[in-house]
Amino acid sequence: MPPVVIALDGPSGSGKSSTARGVASRLGLAYLDTGAMYRAMTWAVLERGVDVEDADAVAAAAAEVVIESGTDPQAPTITADGVDVAGPIREQAVTDAVSQVSRVPAVRERLVALQRLTIAEHADGIVLEGRDIGTVVAPDAPLKLYLVADTAARAARRAAEQGQDEAAHVEATAASLQRRDAIDSSRTTSPLAKADDAVELDTTHLTLDEVVDEVVRLAVKAV
Ligand code: C5P
Repeated sequence: MPPVVIALDGPSGSGKSSTARGVASRLGLAYLDTGAMYRAMTWAVLERGVDVEDADAVAAAAAEVVIESGTDPQAPTITADGVDVAGPIREQAVTDAVSQVSRVPAVRERLVALQRLTIAEHADGIVLEGRDIGTVVAPDAPLKLYLVADTAARAARRAAEQGQDEAAHVEATAASLQRRDAIDSSRTTSPLAKADDAVELDTTHLTLDEVVDEVVRLAVKAV
């Protein structure tokens, strides 16, 4: 039997991470945060002092970086060149640069290959979250979700996660999300897009539990 693959895509802050982890935990599946892999690659590229606007230099640096992801939904891990980067990849410098690094085709080729290897290693199934899972990484996934939410709701959630809910921070977060979405949606190689056969779920007015319940219901039906 092929592995049960659940693909969760959508723009920044649409609730993918919490949902993917909740669904994987509930169904006893592995979990892969592909955004963390792009962030880890970005961290390593910045560490090497590379200008992220220089695609050739990014591609050359990325070829040397070793990214490893742990797939336990209760305690996911991420390393770059053996360094635990779970904290640093959430810093603003990485967030500001990640979309530039992610649009370099050589970066995507390497990380998509790793993601497919991870799928193959988890015969019991895996939940992957990202931007191109349903369209590129796992186009045969039996269940694909595309999560969306109002910009205001996405920014408020992100700011709350960061423990900073004052209006100016929420506004800056909204601008940062929109900037990343614009770059992610307009790049040539595997842009953020809804797969034709993905189910779109608007999480604006739903609690996390409601979203997880709905995805689990769809998963049980799909496999
Ligand atoms: O999911 P997260 O917001 O952490 O992703 C960070 C960035 O990584 C995205 O804005 C996007 O540029 C990139 N990304 C991507 N493809 C994926 C996952 C993330 O290009 N599958």
